[in-house]
This record gives sequence, C-alpha cells and structure tokens, in this order.
Amino acid sequence: MDSFLIKGGVPLHGEVTISGAKNAVLPIMAATLLTPDPCLIRRVPHLSDVRFMGQILTWLGAKVSYEADTVRVESKKIKGHGDYDLVRKMRGSICIMGPLLGRLRKARVSLPGGCIIGARPINLHLKAFAALGAKIVIEGGYVQATAKRLIGAPMFLGGRAGSTVLGTANALMAAVLAEGVTVIESAACEPEVVDLANFLNAMGAKICGAGSPTVTITGVTALHGAEHEVIPDRIEAATFAIAAGATHGEVTLKGARADHLHAVIDKLHDAGVEVERRGANLVARRNGRLKSADVTTLPYSGYPTDAQAQMMALMTLTPGISIITERIFESRFMHVSELGRLGADIEIEGPTAIVKGGRPLSGAPVMASDLRASAALVIAGLAAKGTTQVNRVYHIDRGYENIDGKLRQLGARIQRIEES
Ligand code: EPZ
Repeated sequence: MDSFLIKGGVPLHGEVTISGAKNAVLPIMAATLLTPDPCLIRRVPHLSDVRFMGQILTWLGAKVSYEADTVRVESKKIKGHGDYDLVRKMRGSICIMGPLLGRLRKARVSLPGGCIIGARPINLHLKAFAALGAKIVIEGGYVQATAKRLIGAPMFLGGRAGSTVLGTANALMAAVLAEGVTVIESAACEPEVVDLANFLNAMGAKICGAGSPTVTITGVTALHGAEHEVIPDRIEAATFAIAAGATHGEVTLKGARADHLHAVIDKLHDAGVEVERRGANLVARRNGRLKSADVTTLPYSGYPTDAQAQMMALMTLTPGISIITERIFESRFMHVSELGRLGADIEIEGPTAIVKGGRPLSGAPVMASDLRASAALVIAGLAAKGTTQVNRVYHIDRGYENIDGKLRQLGARIQRIEES
C-alpha cells in the first residue's frame, strides 16, 4: 500500500487543473445502462472508483473503453444482477439499481452494508422503487427489485439527515422509463444530481426541476445514446483552496465553478482565505491571519460534508476555538485522532468537534481511514514542521486524480512511496 512522504512548510503557488467530478461520473456511467446505444462521457478523472464502476458495467455485459479522459460505454445486452464482490467494494455502485430496474424491470445487487463514516442505509432508494410499483426482496445479502410495469408516482425522499444524493439519482434513473409522471419531493439539489439529469435529458428523458427539492419526470418509452462533459469536481477544488490557505499560498483553480462552491467560499472568507474569480478560473489565497470559524455540514447548498475534514485541518492551524458539527454522517471524525498525532488539539462531543487551534503542527506517521480524512491529513502535513508520512493512500486515489503530482506542480515537497 502506497504512502506519501510530505516535508511541510512550503507555500503552494501556481495553477492546478480541476478534474471531472467523481460523484457525477459514477451515476452518469451507471445511467448508460438505460440505453443499448453507445454513450461518450468526457472529462472523466483517472480514479480507482471510476475503474471499479467500469468493471461492474463490463460484468453486467456492457462494452467499456477508455481514451484519455473519455469513457465510451455501449450496453447492447445486459443482465440484471451485479457481482457481489465488485458491488460490495464500492458503495457508489448502488446506483446501478435504478437503471437496471428502469430498463429491465429487475435489479439484484448486494446490499452495500455500512462504511467507516456511517451506517448508510438504502431505505430511501428502496422507497423510491416501491413507489414506482417495484416489489422489493432482501435475502442472502442481496436486495432485489422487480416490477411487471413501472408507473410514475409522487414520492418524498427526505430522511434522517435530509435528502439523499444517490437515492435521488436512483429514483431519477428508475422513473425516466416508467409510464406517466413521477414527482420527487425533498430531492437532493447537489450539482452532481443536476449533471446526471442533464445527461439523462440528453439521452431523451424528460426531467424538470433538477437542482431544486421538487423534480418532475415524465416517463418515455426509450432512451438513445448521448455525449456529455462532466462538471468539475467542487470537492477537489475546495480541497486545493483549503491547502492554499493552510500553507499561506496562492493557487489558481483552473476550471473550478464558483456557483457550485458558495458555502465553501463563504466559510473560507470567514477564516481569512479569499477565493476570487479571475476570468474562467478561481484563485484561492491567504488574506493575512487565519480566523477561527464554525462549520455545520448540510445537504447542498449548505457546507458539504465532503469538505468537513479538510476545513478541520485548516482550523487546527488557526488561533482560537472552532466548532465543527457533522450533520450528515454519524461517524465522520476518523481524522481527529490522526490530526492529534500531528499535535492538533481537538475534542469530540457527539456530532461536534471542538478545535482549539493555533498550536504549530509537527510531522509524524499517520493513517488514512477514508477518502476525505486522507485529504485532511495531506493538508495538515503540508502545513506541519518536519516530515509527515500518510499511510494507506489508496483511500485518496479513490477520489483525487494524481493529487501528489498536482501538489508537486504547486511546489509541494511530497513523494509517493510505492509499496513493492
Ligand atoms: C453521496 O453519497 C456521495 N457519494 C458522498 O461522497 C457524499 O458524502 C454524500 O452523497 C452526501 O453529500 C457519491 O456520490 C458516490 P446520501 P450518498 O444518500 O448518496 C442517509 C465522498 O467522499 N440515508 O446523500 O450515499 C445517509 O445515511 C463520498 O466522495 C438514509 O438514511 O449519501 C446519510 O446520513 C462520501 N437512507 C444521509 O442520508 C437512504 O436510503 C446522506 O446520504 C440514503 C441515505
């Protein structure tokens, strides 16, 4: 398992190109199952999660090929059940259920189970399928949805933590080929959901209101192939902006979209990090001393849970007390103890972390536990005195394309140690 060696203390300077969004690409690749025609998806990042989704589609019978940052998928003939071993490896693959049910009227996949950041049930996904008339059976570690006919229907998809991103994606993909009209209330409004709806509409679907809590889908009888360029990754952009602030640097985020980052830009402003538009790009730079800031994670357009750990790393460097509250996932503080190893002073009280910032960090060996926690450890390592070794960086490779290469481009002293 690879690790990173980071010599901290270098301000990041220069330009970085923001890759396509992982959380848009995965459901969009799954959506290609809805048509026998070929689909072309551009600005696809080179990530292990993308390769996993490609393997799952191939297993289902699709032809998947990659060229530079383009993926071509052709699902002429497909089967309705996903391989246990593949699906269980990546939670995001649950979003093959909607398109399989939509196209074949049957879908059988392994239950995803929990993950390190929370229980992550799929009750809302199944609620959506049942509302369209599907029969749901959970047996032997698998969940199966079957339907003679799928009939459009109203559904409310609000849960314990508000809306569900992949639950909304699955409902959309099951409803586009249903008979009649479906109305989703409390739909997720994330830009990745809008990007999926735009792709589905390019395939001939009739979706209105994506990006708002009320989405209307008028079913059609068939979908055709389409080409689509994926949106830039707002969480990758947020991560580099926070790294610029943590290292007292200035970074141009090529291709980042300000309209997807309002909550992050606003919070960084409070913390003393300015993010400004310059032409088609954003520029993040430290503006004097860092200031403590309180953060509560919320569904979009609130502050994203996927940028909570990175913001916590920044707050450890900031004199004063910052209160960080995680409202989306029950146990998304795995990075706290590892930041503690670098000298941070953080206490956890239920869903809240109290960060007593300002104490200089010093390099140490730390362990990545999940995708965003590992990004936070890299940011802390870039700001710490001495050398930090971040182990198990396979977590970060799941969601960040060539992060060490991009950081070196910005002047960081980071090295990937490949395990032989
Ligand atoms: C997506 O996961 C993202 N993953 C996550 O990003 C992201 O953290 C999350 O949305 C929230 O923004 C992908 O898009 C592949 P949810 P998803 O359903 O859709 C509860 C990353 O770091 N819930 O919106 O699985 C759930 O337990 C990853 O890139 C139910 O109770 O998340 C959670 O508390 C991590 N029942 C909350 O809703 C359900 O049926 C939000 O989860 C579904 C969800």
